[in-house]
Amino acid sequence: MANSSIPKFHEKTREERIKIVESFAALSKEDVKILKSDGGIFFNQANNMVENAIGTISFPLGIATNFKINGRDYLVPMAIEEASVIAAASKAAKIARKHGGFIMESDESYSIGQIQVVDTNVKSATHKIMNAADKILKLANTKSKTLSKMGKGAKEVSCKELKTKSGKMLVVELLIDVGDAMGANLTNTMCEGIAPLIEKLTGGRVILRILSNYSTKRLVKGKAIFDKDDLGGTEIVDNIILAYQFAANDPYRAVTHNKGIMNGIIAVANSTGQDTRAIEAAAHAYASRNGKYAALTEWKKDKNGNLLGKIEVPMSVGIVGGIINVHPMIKVCNKILGVKSAKELSCIIGAVGLAQNFSAIRALASEGIQKGHMKLHAKNIAASADVPKSKMDEVISRMISDGNISVTSAKEILKEL
Ligand code: MEV
Repeated sequence: MANSSIPKFHEKTREERIKIVESFAALSKEDVKILKSDGGIFFNQANNMVENAIGTISFPLGIATNFKINGRDYLVPMAIEEASVIAAASKAAKIARKHGGFIMESDESYSIGQIQVVDTNVKSATHKIMNAADKILKLANTKSKTLSKMGKGAKEVSCKELKTKSGKMLVVELLIDVGDAMGANLTNTMCEGIAPLIEKLTGGRVILRILSNYSTKRLVKGKAIFDKDDLGGTEIVDNIILAYQFAANDPYRAVTHNKGIMNGIIAVANSTGQDTRAIEAAAHAYASRNGKYAALTEWKKDKNGNLLGKIEVPMSVGIVGGIINVHPMIKVCNKILGVKSAKELSCIIGAVGLAQNFSAIRALASEGIQKGHMKLHAKNIAASADVPKSKMDEVISRMISDGNISVTSAKEILKEL
């Protein structure tokens, strides 16, 4: 079985890294060509995707190593501009391997569609809708023969009343199993498709017909254990738990704590072509589900005194449709992951979010994050100053100890050496 634990991956050249990924994921020569192409889509494609297009923009794409999720090894593509994130995820995944890696589970891919009905008697309209539920579901399911054939599609109708300043209104909700798609288009199509029937049944007026991005029926949950000895002992474990308690009890800290989780989640979502705004919006609403914005993860000790981390977050992702079938680099990233279902992808993204959070609070609860950041920053600066590999370490440590990290300083130190 392929092993994602690759020693000194970060020290290898780009060529070597690509070779490892190529063999890990059985990439084709064409896939490798795309990986080396420094980009993704051509302007013509971009021009067909958005309005007023003038170009394309790209981000760094890296590979997080060491991930073992539900017993399977993954090399995880992450597209993100921020230094340290990929290294942090890989480090966390390495520590988590000792106790079996990440154990994740994902709900079925249930999407929620909403139909807003006004100018109706909510109570009797609800009655009529619920009596006609089968008819409504049947009609909704005519909008996707493929899903229906797979035993998926619209599954449930429900109603809720909203009391607003403009009066009472009825919201009809459709629960739809969208399978391996993210499902926004399909959900919207079904909502629009059943709206005339809803108007006929209720005698009311339908205004909005749209999916809800608050995908609470599409959660990913999971956990991992980080051995106390690998963390440097009980004191660090205790400090990490105290750091978590800070986030659990203060929204100002919780937002930053969750931002760190989203560093991981969004980087994988970017590389696999997901709607990152939908993921972000749902995650933050979910963080407030108990009436106060709080952490999306939980940290405590297990019975052996090791650190146990848990995550629970809505995850609306797909492996088919949209940009996933179009963008050459995203297609290769999905091939590297080799996932067979949206649920599997959801588990990977959740695991990376948990890993990211672990590394962030571990660093914050011990040496702080600036030391590592500064080192990476200095390395980037030294590289832009054309410092040769043989002098790299010396130039980096001199810049850090002088407290002057700049291209000019790197060049001066190099001259002195
Ligand atoms: C930086 O991008 C993310 C962190 O601020 C997250 C955190 O504070 O937990 C390090």
